[in-house]
Amino acid sequence: MHHSRLREALLAHYDRHQRDLPWRAESDPYRILVSEVMLQQTRVETVLGYYEAWIERFPTVRALAEASEAEVLKAWEGLGYYRRARYLHRAAMMVCERFQGELPSSAEQLREIPGVGEYTVGAVGSIAFGLQVPAVDGNVRRVLARWFDVAEPSAAWLREVATELVDPDRPGDWNQALMDLGATVCTPRAPRCEVCPVSWVCAARKAGTAEKRPEPKRKRAPRPATFALAVLRSPDAGVLMVRRPQGGLLGGMWALPEVEIEQGERAPLQAVRRLAEGLGVRASSRSWRPLRSVRHRFTHIDATYLPWLLDLRAPSPVSSEPDRRWVDHAERQDLAVPVAQRNILEDL
Ligand code: ADE
Repeated sequence: MHHSRLREALLAHYDRHQRDLPWRAESDPYRILVSEVMLQQTRVETVLGYYEAWIERFPTVRALAEASEAEVLKAWEGLGYYRRARYLHRAAMMVCERFQGELPSSAEQLREIPGVGEYTVGAVGSIAFGLQVPAVDGNVRRVLARWFDVAEPSAAWLREVATELVDPDRPGDWNQALMDLGATVCTPRAPRCEVCPVSWVCAARKAGTAEKRPEPKRKRAPRPATFALAVLRSPDAGVLMVRRPQGGLLGGMWALPEVEIEQGERAPLQAVRRLAEGLGVRASSRSWRPLRSVRHRFTHIDATYLPWLLDLRAPSPVSSEPDRRWVDHAERQDLAVPVAQRNILEDL
């Protein structure tokens, strides 16, 4: 492989055709970190709607470090994979404590930041600090698998090849040029080899295997699961919401009380009644009403939610538990609520 010719051709293409993305006009390492974390499991089009609002809300590492977790989760609401938001928050606090609010500029120190893995070290290191380090995301993996016609590229192989190829003078542009090529030309299906500026380097194109490279990873199907939700509505105070435990699915978000219905279990209403009673609500009433069910696919769980509404007659007792509260429509706007449940509540 002719490295210099390859680098020149791809960078020239990038200079002409790069996507116009707001974080590309940035040199502030914090902002680049935010964009890279948002982009990790989320499409560029979706991130575009969040990035600028986030930067306005938390313009600096310090602003983010000083925000409450509730504010941070709220700003992330709808982006999914909320662990990223909590890590970003912890990262900001750590950077303030350890590095006086400035992201460190070495790969070793970047790696110490909470939530920053190999990809993020590579992306932020190369784009913000000009370090000659690779950043292998899904797009880059596909491009390299095709250039070398490798069916199942291992992480070690990808790392080695990607490291070797990084342009020493423009590492950040090189990494982003690879990502853009993967996103716009070297696409998973129907790659547009006829417009590829470096198709001459591509072994898979020569062998006619481009579309089969890399072979799809065998993914486990998400587990189907059914959850009954208790929508307990008080005449004066909104609905009862609980804060989900840290660490689990949607950890830290405010949600409707839920109980999983085992496969084959036929009586979700019984389960909801028990759930409500566990929350201190007298729930034997006959006036539970089913609401429209909602489906939401998480990475590992294909969830169906069956919400049941109970209108309480008496005004709500004040909840003394910190992780439970009555939430009215206005307050709900300020809390981070899972999207599927927000839709249920909007129906009310
Ligand atoms: N995906 C993740 N980070 C990216 C970037 N900086 N440019 C293009 N696509 C990306």
